Amino acid sequence: MSLSVPAPLVMMRGIEKSFVGAKANSDIDLDLRRGEVHTLLGENGAGKSTLMNILSGLYTPDDGSIFIEGEERKFRTPRDAISAGIGMVHQHFMLVPTQTVWENVALGLEDQPFSLDKNSIIAKVRDIQERYGIHVDPHAYVWQLSIGEQQRVAIIKTLYRKADILILDEPTSVLTPQETKALFQTIRQIRQEKHGVIFISHKLDEVIDISDRITILRKGRKVATIPVQNASKESLAEMMVGRRVVFQIGKTLQNPGKVVLKAKDLVVRGGRGIVCVDKFSLELRQREILGLAGVSGNGQEELCDALAGIRQIDDGAIVVDGVELQGKPSREFQKKGVSYIPADRIGTGLVTGMNIRENIALRKYWRKEFTRFRFFVHWENIAGRTGQLVERYSVVNPGLGFPARMLSGGNLQKLMLARELADDPRVVLAVQPSWGLDVSATLFVRETLLEQRDRGSGVLLVSDDLEEILSLSDRIAVIHKGKLMGIVEDPDSASEEQLGLMMAGTSLAEFLPDDVPPGHVPVRAVP
Ligand SMILES: Nc1ncnc2c1ncn2[C@@H]1O[C@H](COP(=O)(O)OP(=O)(O)O)[C@@H](O)[C@H]1O
Ligand SMILES: [Mg+2]
Repeated sequence: MSLSVPAPLVMMRGIEKSFVGAKANSDIDLDLRRGEVHTLLGENGAGKSTLMNILSGLYTPDDGSIFIEGEERKFRTPRDAISAGIGMVHQHFMLVPTQTVWENVALGLEDQPFSLDKNSIIAKVRDIQERYGIHVDPHAYVWQLSIGEQQRVAIIKTLYRKADILILDEPTSVLTPQETKALFQTIRQIRQEKHGVIFISHKLDEVIDISDRITILRKGRKVATIPVQNASKESLAEMMVGRRVVFQIGKTLQNPGKVVLKAKDLVVRGGRGIVCVDKFSLELRQREILGLAGVSGNGQEELCDALAGIRQIDDGAIVVDGVELQGKPSREFQKKGVSYIPADRIGTGLVTGMNIRENIALRKYWRKEFTRFRFFVHWENIAGRTGQLVERYSVVNPGLGFPARMLSGGNLQKLMLARELADDPRVVLAVQPSWGLDVSATLFVRETLLEQRDRGSGVLLVSDDLEEILSLSDRIAVIHKGKLMGIVEDPDSASEEQLGLMMAGTSLAEFLPDDVPPGHVPVRAVP
């Protein structure tokens, strides 16, 4: 009698993939067992999506083999992979907004009769929803759904195609804590049914929460595969980054000063003319970081564009140091000391075709010390200043005359910090400042913002990463569909649960007990 071990559900061996100028995957092995949640952990650019795009038939590997239940398979198209039972939910799900949930699920199915059997599709969708606890109305149009709900549609779509192997590429980056919890329930149910799940993330706490085994990738190579029992946050971070990581950042208590920025009943429209900031008010004080929490796309960016003076407002007032600025050109905002670190680093923030000096000059060239005879840019002075800034903000660069596009993401963001913070602005608007950065650049950005607060600036920190908001903020405001849900005065008193509910649209007032003694309210509702 032979004791044969069943072949793993997925076996990838020696996977190689290069792109022009980048080796994305280098000799990678990966096994997925039945009934397992296997996490791919790695920093941005480590090669996680590439490896999974290969498994799902989107990319062809340069070398290496893929076995499904012991049988070698070569996927030429995503369709080949789907028929082998592989379903991938991409970071940007590919749904048709003008169609309903059930139509999206049915879209692209093979062997469909000429007209879709609506009732049987909906019945099957409901069956999947019940089995895996995925709630979304099959008749809703996709454009009506939140990002979290759209993700559920994408998951239902793969399950509808009988995916045996489900790949989720950074699914939690767009979810509130509650939505993440619901997703994890679904993942556990899929595991229960003896399918396999490959989960991609760079968030250590959740990786430890959901995984059975973890494979760490760094710079396109596999570092290790370990069972979760052997993993700690520290050891995972060390393998992911390649050296020890200290998680603690030194945040001291500060006494905020007077109000530097006041927004009153702001109404701002987005690109398509829809109101996306709705009677929004807040006050930002000197020496404080006010965190603005919210799922991205709830009006945060439009709000900050308006506060920076680069987007028109419909109504309301913006007051900086007692001076009303609404309706004034953006340079007036700059002159009053409003600096802006936008989410869109390459686009609104920096001009990648310009060199490092020119990018520094971009928002300052009109200043006296940088002009000659009033009309000419004083390039020597700008070069001198740029040299100092690059040093102070540790921007690793091949030379000040090189185009900004030659910098890595982390160094681009440091260049932005250098330009926006060096003159100790009164107000700093920082939107998703560590988005897409590796661990060390993220720490640098966070420490720099804290330092800027300690130097006296008022910092409005917009982030969809609650961990970031909680670790940096002195107060926390929550935005949902352009409205202020409330301001939590003491972040230590707020639970992630409560903030998550506010991010999903519950007003803070609903959490306040009825009999709070006056003067002892740790949180303040919207007036
Ligand atoms: N389609 C592509 N064309 C060129 N380079 C790519 C492409 N996809 C990924 N890369 C590069 O491959 C490397 C790994 O990227 P990726 O697999 O997306 O990493 P991760 O998902 O871990 O963040 C990066 O250097 C990235 O720039
Ligand atoms: Mg990726």
